[in-house]
Amino acid sequence: MTSYGKPSRTNIEKKIRDLENEIKRLKKNNRTTRARLKAAQAELQESSDRLRKTMGGIIQAMSLTIEKRDPYTAGHQRRVTKLCRVIATIMGFSWERVQGFRMAAVIHDLGKIQVPAEILSKPGKLTENEFGIIKTHPQIGFDILKGIEFSWPIAQIVYQHHERMNGSGYPRGLAGEDILPEARILAVADVVEAMSSHRPYRPALGLESAIDEIRQNRGILYDADVVDACLKAIDENEALINQPTSNEN
Ligand SMILES: [Fe+2]
Repeated sequence: MTSYGKPSRTNIEKKIRDLENEIKRLKKNNRTTRARLKAAQAELQESSDRLRKTMGGIIQAMSLTIEKRDPYTAGHQRRVTKLCRVIATIMGFSWERVQGFRMAAVIHDLGKIQVPAEILSKPGKLTENEFGIIKTHPQIGFDILKGIEFSWPIAQIVYQHHERMNGSGYPRGLAGEDILPEARILAVADVVEAMSSHRPYRPALGLESAIDEIRQNRGILYDADVVDACLKAIDENEALINQPTSNEN
């Protein structure tokens, strides 16, 4: 017996059963949706990894093309890239940002493709005019890369790698914070590697001279934090500068 307006016990039990069934159905749907989402995420990750590998391969091919034309700088870009990666990591760059930076570093002298080979490999001192031609390479590199939609400012990093903190660099005479952090790192790594290696117009000046150069111009030509990180990197592993590198940086 139930009083008027009160639901019977049987009705309540039925409602509970219905609700339990509904919860079970929702849970099942939720599991299916989550599994589908996981599969879609894995697929997306896989295609993004593939794309990254393809892009890395193309960049590597571009880098080798430059080096084939200019044997004196063979390995230079790869050694610079290695040093850049270590400095950026010491400075707390994320893994993702380091990946983009590596791509810029390994083709930073791309614009030399338009500099006559006899100037690039000329033994002895360059004339003012010849040096003027070499100085066009950041602009040319930028012009080649600017139309490509990278996820990182690769064209700008290449464009700015000869700028200096006090505005005395080229091609635009940018100064301080107007220079991208990656370009400030590249500037230091480039100088250290170039001074430590043999060039057509001079023998290697040695790592000690390179260290003196960045120490003396810390905060003047070169970003102070970058110089500190670079000195730390060399201090921890001097072989970073002198060891030949493979294609893998
Ligand atoms: Fe350069």
